[in-house]
Amino acid sequence: MIDDASDLEQLYKGVAQYYTGTLRRFGPTPLGVDWSCAPTQALRFRKLLIVCDFHEPFSLNDIGCGYGALLKYLADYHPDHVIDYLGVDLSQAMVSRARKLWPGQSHKFEQGPAASRTADYSIASGIFNVMLDQPVDMWERFVATTLSQLHESSRRGFAVNFVTAPRSGQDIRRGLYGTTPERWIDFCRSEFSRDVTLIDGYGMSEFTLLIRSPD
Ligand SMILES: C[S@@+](CC[C@H](N)C(=O)[O-])C[C@H]1O[C@@H](n2cnc3c(N)ncnc32)[C@H](O)[C@@H]1O
Repeated sequence: MIDDASDLEQLYKGVAQYYTGTLRRFGPTPLGVDWSCAPTQALRFRKLLIVCDFHEPFSLNDIGCGYGALLKYLADYHPDHVIDYLGVDLSQAMVSRARKLWPGQSHKFEQGPAASRTADYSIASGIFNVMLDQPVDMWERFVATTLSQLHESSRRGFAVNFVTAPRSGQDIRRGLYGTTPERWIDFCRSEFSRDVTLIDGYGMSEFTLLIRSPD
């Protein structure tokens, strides 16, 4: 965990600046949130949303919501489902763009590193990937802090994704954080819940973890 608030502030500032930059360059598009294309962005949503029970209405916090692409996915694939949605992003520019793209009462956006409310579920797509020039141990303390926030603000469960660490000898893009599933499965099992599901093998060098709260 990160105990020093100023370390965390600096880290948040760097991440927000980075994504404000991608948005300025590429606009509200997958490239604008550093994804390569819309199909893989949607595939990530599909895997993360497995944590949610679509048989009943629920509230959802989308941490690192970017310009709100998840709302388009939900409108396309779950058009009749009632979801009380809150999008949260570190970048004020992302939040402003999301509010412009998604006006209305049924969803809200706020700027910050964590949701101001507890929801049934939370998902976070892509928030652990770009560590910039942070040392790995610092980034891992940030990941642990963020996972704890997700756990505390999710009644029923939450889901996150990570870039898979390359096999030894292979390179990873500079500034990208790659890890093994075991590293964070063990952490989530010891800190939050035994009910952790790994989803991988979906054709990307990434994996998704679903963490369901104990009954
Ligand atoms: C890779 S982009 C993905 C955006 C969106 N989830 C999507 O898939 O379209 C990551 C986003 O998360 C935001 N972000 C990163 N870390 C965050 C954190 N700890 N809290 C809130 N937002 C964060 C960034 O500003 C950026 O907009």
